[in-house]
Amino acid sequence: MRRLLALLALAPLAACGEANMAEQPSARTWDKNNFFPQGMTMRQPVAGTVPRNDPAKAAPQPATITESLLTRGRERYGIFCTPCHGASGDGRGMIVARGFPSAGQLTTERLRQASADDLYRAISQGHRAMYGMGQMIPSADRWAIVAYVRALQRSQDAAVAALPPEDRAKLEASR
Ligand code: HEC
Repeated sequence: MRRLLALLALAPLAACGEANMAEQPSARTWDKNNFFPQGMTMRQPVAGTVPRNDPAKAAPQPATITESLLTRGRERYGIFCTPCHGASGDGRGMIVARGFPSAGQLTTERLRQASADDLYRAISQGHRAMYGMGQMIPSADRWAIVAYVRALQRSQDAAVAALPPEDRAKLEASR
């Protein structure tokens, strides 16, 4: 430990002599290293380290779709997906309007047929120009978003006859 502290104390002095601070001595992961007892550069993670992406922590797909799940999904969709896919899933979000590659419609026949796992995977790992969001959206929220995407798809592919009577009456009245 004392050796390490001594080395850390010297590091700034060593760097001062260099015109280019980007070029400082450094150890590479797989190099031998006499500084540490096992002779390895690589270190074990500190006790209690939590992996960023622990597959064991993946939440199972919810068995039932509840209103609170959809509400959560709508909120998270609004935060993470609307900038590209738009509020209705038409693929014309704000940053697409500013030049990002078209994000694609989420309500196409193909994506209506896609499994929930496919949608979940697209969110987690990304798809073409879309980056994966597994690191920033917890697993349970990704399922909530999938449920909301299903609701968006349904909302744009429902027969008038399938509407509850009161909604149907409102629609008829607005014609
Ligand atoms: C930075 C912009 C961006 C964001 C944010 C984004 N997407 Fe995408 N998404 C894209 C692009 C671009 C594609 C690929 C379109 C193509 O080339 O087919 C795509 C494709 C998809 C696909 C289609 C996969 C397939 O098989 O065709 C799904 C589903 C999807 N996104 C869902 C989402 C959801 C849900 C969110 C929010 C959690 C989200 N995306 C956030 C840009 C984005």
